[in-house]
Amino acid sequence: MVGVGQLGSYVASDIIAMIDATRDVVVLADGQVAVLRPEEVEFFDAAGNPVQPAITHIDWDVDTAEKGGYPDFMLKEIHEQPRVIRDTLAGRLEGGSISIDELDMSAEELHLVDRVYIIACGTSYHAGLIAKNLIEAWARIPCEVEVASEFRYRDPIITPTTLVVAVSQSGETADTLAAIRDARVKGAKVFGITNVVGSPVARESDGVIYTKANKEIAVASTKSFLGQVVSLTLLALLLGQSHGTLTTGQIKLLFSELADTAEQVERILADDTAIRKAAHACVNATSALFIGRGMGSAISYEGALKLKEISYLHAEAYAAGEMKHGPIALIDEGFPVIAIATRGPVYDKVVSNLQESRARGALIVAIATEGDEEIKRHADHVIYIPKVRDAFSPITASVPLQMFARCIALERGCDVDQPRNLAKSVTVE
Ligand code: M6R
Repeated sequence: MVGVGQLGSYVASDIIAMIDATRDVVVLADGQVAVLRPEEVEFFDAAGNPVQPAITHIDWDVDTAEKGGYPDFMLKEIHEQPRVIRDTLAGRLEGGSISIDELDMSAEELHLVDRVYIIACGTSYHAGLIAKNLIEAWARIPCEVEVASEFRYRDPIITPTTLVVAVSQSGETADTLAAIRDARVKGAKVFGITNVVGSPVARESDGVIYTKANKEIAVASTKSFLGQVVSLTLLALLLGQSHGTLTTGQIKLLFSELADTAEQVERILADDTAIRKAAHACVNATSALFIGRGMGSAISYEGALKLKEISYLHAEAYAAGEMKHGPIALIDEGFPVIAIATRGPVYDKVVSNLQESRARGALIVAIATEGDEEIKRHADHVIYIPKVRDAFSPITASVPLQMFARCIALERGCDVDQPRNLAKSVTVE
């Protein structure tokens, strides 16, 4: 990118490298050329024709790129999550209606959407799994979630009324970009959800929503994940509104409960005692199983990914109802089973899965709803989180799982910000 400043122009691979010198940057498109001279900067396309690309003003602080008193970026970013929720929701409810103008679709076009594909990789894919539940429940539109590396090599059913939602923190994941291009060629409208202003995902989508997480430095996504979940929740509300499947009253109530999660996450962050104890109990394990049902199953995938990527402890996630179909064979004395056991429509089912695991010697860590005393009978460690509507449980339940993974990684002597073999942006296939 090129920085355009009062005292000169700058070129760097990242905004952080030049943010002290200028906050006005141009993100070069593929093939574009910039010629920097002390007094001016000129831009050309690949054919040598002069072009005038848009200048983006960076409004986040240089402090964002520093640890701000935290021992590592991961913890700092985990603690930024209440702010991310608030910023992502700011200005989105106007007079009882959800407004996402950046989507660049008329009410009529939105009303016609009859199929949604969410395409993404890694953690962003898990945000999609959560959103599928909301879109189908609130808008009654079929929604499929697919990893971009599979989507791009399939022949998915796409019509002009298909909405493709591409989710990417970095906005430059190679597979996600290829999937966007493919979907557009096939005639879909593509909506990008990304954290990086001016990124390829933003530029190549028909509309874009920014997650307001600001720069995320730790390789393990935390705050950008929550930003994605909240943005996708807004999209689900918008689709419910455009399809007439949610009333204004319902939208207002859901939005207000969604906004309340910022404070609930603050409460979780205020006391990590139970999380640290549970993590300590699992630190010498060689493998761990994350289970849940419904929303809990989507959350468990993210919990397992977080643990494996920063602690190098093998972790797998399963929809708890699948336990009897294979994974239960893994369980023996002391095998950690981390269960999303919040009060909700499938609570009793999860409890019976816990009983089955415990009977075989599993060490149970349950993420449970405050006030649930019964769960203590079925778990060795209980991590309580505030009571929220099931639809919003991914927002609150994923936070202790991030902290749990970080505690284990630190106890195992791992670098939580820069895990081995991983890059923050996966720009090659
Ligand atoms: O930038 P993206 O969201 O497209 O990245 C996708 C994955 O590479 C990313 O989520 C990865 O799984 C993270 N390291 C997870 O913490």
